[in-house]
Amino acid sequence: MMDDTGCKHPAFRVREATAEDNAALLALDRACVVAAATPVAFDRSPNFFARSRAYPSWRVYVAEGDAGLIGVGAMALKTVLVNGAPLRAAYFYDLRVAPGFRRLGVAKALGDAIRGHTRSLNPAVGYSLVMEGNIPSETFVQDRGSRPLRSCALSLIPVEAVPITGLERVRPLEEADAMSVLRLARAAHPDHDLFPFADVESLCDRLHRLDGLGFRGLYGWKSGGSLTGCVGLWDYSPVMRMRIVGSEDAWSWAAGRDLHLVFLMPLGFQGPAGVADAVRLAAERLRQESGAGAARVLAVPHDLADPGYAALDAFRPIRLGFTLFGLDLGGRQDLSLGSRMAFVDPADL
Ligand SMILES: CC(C)(COP(=O)(O)OP(=O)(O)OC[C@H]1O[C@@H](n2cnc3c(N)ncnc32)[C@H](O)[C@@H]1OP(=O)(O)O)[C@@H](O)C(=O)NCCC(=O)NCCS
Repeated sequence: MMDDTGCKHPAFRVREATAEDNAALLALDRACVVAAATPVAFDRSPNFFARSRAYPSWRVYVAEGDAGLIGVGAMALKTVLVNGAPLRAAYFYDLRVAPGFRRLGVAKALGDAIRGHTRSLNPAVGYSLVMEGNIPSETFVQDRGSRPLRSCALSLIPVEAVPITGLERVRPLEEADAMSVLRLARAAHPDHDLFPFADVESLCDRLHRLDGLGFRGLYGWKSGGSLTGCVGLWDYSPVMRMRIVGSEDAWSWAAGRDLHLVFLMPLGFQGPAGVADAVRLAAERLRQESGAGAARVLAVPHDLADPGYAALDAFRPIRLGFTLFGLDLGGRQDLSLGSRMAFVDPADL
């Protein structure tokens, strides 16, 4: 296809992805190193769509050229809290274009299809997370109307680096504890926008969805007779393994190894020591299991300005930076998304 400036463009069509696209999507994802400040590559085998299963409602579009798939992009519909009130939000993710087909409008065409579907669902806001230094992606989302709202981080702590101290009175939690878990998760994120659990049903729904996706259990601890902290262990490796590309000093221990991220999700705590207790408990639980060959890493996403997560510094985490971008979709200019701290949902990473 030739445009009026004489440039050649690939012929491609955008359509909804199907299960038959899985192998091609896994290969496409592997070929798309995210060129951020710390470049990262992903392995999503065996199921590219597993990541989306954490959401109740999602859609994936692909761009298909003569020789196969050349691009992919996805959206999920979520109910989140914004300024304390539940709101429908669209989360945009998994945008990838094959290296040989970049800068030809493929991402734009995928973005248009996603935007069309999103509008039919009528959410009030849209948002995305872009790794710091990923200039193509940052430029892309801003050109399409998104604004940078918050600086966030994924704090990564190798399991082996956490000192063993032993947490007393830890017990496995069950679904019957869901209300206490939600209360604690809210206590840790009291005024945070994009908190994805508006009620106990949505929390239980998420936990059910993570069954078979690496969820390893929910634990809680008490102080003075009542539950004061809780943590879920979500081993993300059945969904995705991550590899740091390059050999920066901070990452030398990770060179050539697949990183198995374990998210602390849901995470609830009271007081400044709560998050550190959760890290110690998670590390202790994971050390009881074998994990030869893989580097197991506790992964804690958070708003960089959130003082609730300051206690993570004691573990000297390596931080991958992200920018939260937001987009007003419902004409509600009064939403002020970005003026409060954001909750960074592990499912969104
Ligand atoms: C980001 C990415 C999806 C863009 O795909 P693409 O098909 O090349 O993008 P498009 O051709 O549709 O570009 C649309 C606009 O995005 C911006 N853009 C895209 N690539 C850019 C680049 N390398 N530098 C600056 N701006 C860029 C431009 O504004 C561009 O419009 P223009 O070409 O008219 O100037 C692609 O680079 C990619 O797959 N990167 C690796 C994976 C990744 O980082 N995904 C995003 C994770 S958040």
